[in-house]
Amino acid sequence: MLKTPIFITNFKTYEQATGQRAVDLAKIHQEVADKTGASIAVAVQACDLWRVSQEVTIPVFAQHIDPVDFGSFTGHNLPQGVKANGAIGSLLNHSERRIPEDVIINTLACAQKSSLIRIVCGEDVAEIEKFAQFAPDFLAFEPPELIGASGKSVATEEPESIAEAVKVTSIPVLVGAGISTAKDIEVSLKLGAKGFLVASAITKASNPKKILTELVSAF
Ligand code: G3P
Repeated sequence: MLKTPIFITNFKTYEQATGQRAVDLAKIHQEVADKTGASIAVAVQACDLWRVSQEVTIPVFAQHIDPVDFGSFTGHNLPQGVKANGAIGSLLNHSERRIPEDVIINTLACAQKSSLIRIVCGEDVAEIEKFAQFAPDFLAFEPPELIGASGKSVATEEPESIAEAVKVTSIPVLVGAGISTAKDIEVSLKLGAKGFLVASAITKASNPKKILTELVSAF
């Protein structure tokens, strides 16, 4: 299991976090993890999993997997495949990659067969409560309207919803959407968050190492 609090940078499909640049950015995460002792992971594109996981020892996640097994499933993200390429787990149902409830359930079962750590994303407290019944390893609470927001975050705009999301489940809850300051991290931790899913603050930073160090200093 992952050490918490955990900071996961979601590389999404940002240009700054694709291909060789994904490797370089992951190495920065490794450096900061080594230097600070903070629990830091990255969630990279499927095509970058192998290369990134060969270059770092911090946990590497896939951003999405499909409920398929070995066989005839062209174009899918095979859970065993992401595992074989170095992923220790996967995000599921991210706001930018939503899937129906039955697919979440099937995918969780497939991921479990491959012993992947499963992080299910929900957009509001009701979804967090509902998805908790599916017993993933982590839930991630991300209000979509604050994803990529600048100057505001779930911690500044909706702190009470973080407390509520944490209250409706005993599964550790990660928080994301606009997280960009140490204050966001502090507030969320105080409200019971067990970690973070962050993208733009790191991937778009001119100095990702500096901002990542600042953010995890709040752990
Ligand atoms: O998965 C992380 C995410 O959706 C939050 O994105 O850019 O608001 O940190 P961002």
